[in-house]
Amino acid sequence: SGFPSQVRNGLSKVGVPPEVLDFFFQWFDSSKDHPKIPEAKGAIKAIQNEAFFIPLYELYLTYGGIFRLTFGPKSFLIVSDPSIAKHILKDNSKAYSKGILAEILEFVMGKGLIPADGEVWRVRRRTIVPALHQKYVAAMINLFGQTTQRLCDKLDIAASEREDVEMESLFSRLTLDVIGKAVFNYDFDSLTNDTGIIEAVYTVLREAEDRSVSPIPFWEIPIWKDISPKQKKVNEALKLVNDALNDLIAICKRMVDEEDLQFHEEYMNEEDPSILHFLLASGDDVSSKQLRDDLMTMLIAGHETSAAVLTWTFYLLSKEPTVMSKLQNEVDSVLGDRIPTIEDMKKLKYTTRVINESMRLYPQPPVLIRRSLENDFLGKYPIKRGEDIFISVWNLHRSPHHWIDADKFNPERWPLDGPNPNETNQNFSYLPFGGGPRKCVGDMFASFEMVVAVAMLVRRFNFQMALGAPAVKMTTGATIHTTEGLKMTVTRRLQPPIVPTLEMPLLQVENSASSSQGDSV
Ligand code: HEM
Repeated sequence: SGFPSQVRNGLSKVGVPPEVLDFFFQWFDSSKDHPKIPEAKGAIKAIQNEAFFIPLYELYLTYGGIFRLTFGPKSFLIVSDPSIAKHILKDNSKAYSKGILAEILEFVMGKGLIPADGEVWRVRRRTIVPALHQKYVAAMINLFGQTTQRLCDKLDIAASEREDVEMESLFSRLTLDVIGKAVFNYDFDSLTNDTGIIEAVYTVLREAEDRSVSPIPFWEIPIWKDISPKQKKVNEALKLVNDALNDLIAICKRMVDEEDLQFHEEYMNEEDPSILHFLLASGDDVSSKQLRDDLMTMLIAGHETSAAVLTWTFYLLSKEPTVMSKLQNEVDSVLGDRIPTIEDMKKLKYTTRVINESMRLYPQPPVLIRRSLENDFLGKYPIKRGEDIFISVWNLHRSPHHWIDADKFNPERWPLDGPNPNETNQNFSYLPFGGGPRKCVGDMFASFEMVVAVAMLVRRFNFQMALGAPAVKMTTGATIHTTEGLKMTVTRRLQPPIVPTLEMPLLQVENSASSSQGDSV
């Protein structure tokens, strides 16, 4: 069975169209020679109420690493096996598209980098990845620190006034402020303000999430989409955000035209290091819808994901005080009250492990979506082109076959002196940022953003679940949300010890102090 599929893959690579291949390879596909993918039957009811990836976990334990789920005329393949995930995402990634995901997100992301496929994706990926170069990410560390400081100021007030805080929405605002500045040099300042534009961004986001879990595409029904008050509100919000984007592009274009910087690999305008600035300086077409689509895509991709990771990290920390004190010890000794720098990212090892482990237990998004563009084999099973596939990262990350005490929050599972866990060194049992050619372009950015936020927050405050807070349950949109927020009591840490940064002779201490003030990285 492997041989025909290898020949087929080979022919497909040299450009033989899938229809032709289907015709010639149909004899090999005759399924009587092959095992059939297990079908999860009578399991559909269980799916409707909770976050949908929870029942998929039970089905995985019953039916194994790949099974089929049927809803009336539609059926989905659910993949929870690391080698099949690797095949789809990496080894034979060309044979898969974003499928349903692209259809759902089209209204807001158009052909932006996340939904795009084929040639559009290839060209845009090559244009956008260089914008997130090392110097850019290093410059962002400062932004992460400043924005987190705003959140600290806010929490400081809550602590003095003994008011509980809802951390999920605060994290959402923190990451919105970060991504607005990072992608198009716009300060939403949502931690201190509520403006029309912020509300519009949230309206659009909520709609994207609603659509991704709605069984019926109401928004496609011709008359409904014009008269439904909700759709009208969504369209107005979209227009507002798009107009704002157009203004930002125009402002940025003027800056680019006036500057006399030479464009090069690590090009960066110190005053405006944004991705938009890089793209315009690199010659991206200002008037194109593609540029808007990509900006909108990055705004959404980089916003709710990071917020969700932070939310679940603090939830997990509140339940494991020993992890919290170990974390606080590390931050005390590495940072003290300084705002983190790029050098600190290497030193905050345990902080990084805490985030690695939080992303294992609460992957964002919990499933990856693909559609087969040609017939293929998944493990020993033949599949046809046009299959809709959900790769359950949730199942991979919590599989009892790959993890000891899979449900336990245990950052120690990865030794501090070992490599940072990723999909490659964990053989696709762990893929917090996906894998293969479509892996997240913001992985480094996001990791540092979360390390900075976690470190600064736990240095200054203790966090506990608020008394009488609603139990924390999960619900899904694109990422895993809580059903009723993460209500916490925040207290200032009592006289946090100020620990000197480095134990070195006086002269060198002065040196290192002065270099950390400079802007060279
Ligand atoms: C793709 C996760 C932050 C931009 C992805 C994918 C995952 C992911 C799993 C792969 C999706 C798939 O294969 O279907 C995360 C997580 C983040 C995060 C967990 C934060 C903790 C960011 C940030 C940015 C970003 C900050 C932008 C600066 C993108 C883009 C893609 C992507 C553009 C699509 C890449 C492509 O298809 O070529 N992300 N992401 N992400 N992410 Fe992220």
